[in-house]
Amino acid sequence: MSDYNEFLDEVLISEEQLQTRIRQLGAEISRDYRDQDLLLICVLRGGVLFLADLMRQINVPLSIDFMAVSSYGAGSRQSKGQVRITLDLTTSIEGRSVLLVEDIIDSGHTIASVLEMLSLRRPSSLRVCVLLDKADRREVVVPIHYRGFTIPNKFVFGYGLDLDEYHRNLPFVGVLRPDKASELDQAG
Ligand code: PRP
Repeated sequence: MSDYNEFLDEVLISEEQLQTRIRQLGAEISRDYRDQDLLLICVLRGGVLFLADLMRQINVPLSIDFMAVSSYGAGSRQSKGQVRITLDLTTSIEGRSVLLVEDIIDSGHTIASVLEMLSLRRPSSLRVCVLLDKADRREVVVPIHYRGFTIPNKFVFGYGLDLDEYHRNLPFVGVLRPDKASELDQAG
């Protein structure tokens, strides 16, 4: 995999903009979850950077858990319909205040499916916190309680989002050069 500069059209959201917004989200979540048993659930893998930064900006007691899902029959971010759990939580969520932490919502199928599966486990509340909302691409209605940024329908990478599994470690969100898009298998 080549250096990210080869793929970068522009920085869409800088490190400073990300961290400023995450501080605001953390403050909001801290206010809303006072006196609750907060459990942050990160959907792997894209959400890890967001989770790590967000949880440091929340000042109420919390715990974390992880899950991974994959689309049925799809290897790309172009998800359609139901997803299946490939890595399940290690803790029970029954009676707990669950906040799902996602890097991006695109069609909405992934989060809709995860919400459906987790609600069967009877958490006391179940909400969604997403960093990037690619609203124009939505195919199913999903409730978003905390939203970092609404972004245009462009192929983005960095800050958890990958380019063929690389460059998740970039501290900013970048837009892929249009002439490079055909080389990569991604809809996001
Ligand atoms: C991305 C992202 C969401 C999903 C959003 O995951 O993290 O889970 O796609 O797309 P949707 O709204 O159209 O369902 P991806 O499958 O790329 O896996 P990753 O997090 O491991 O990169």
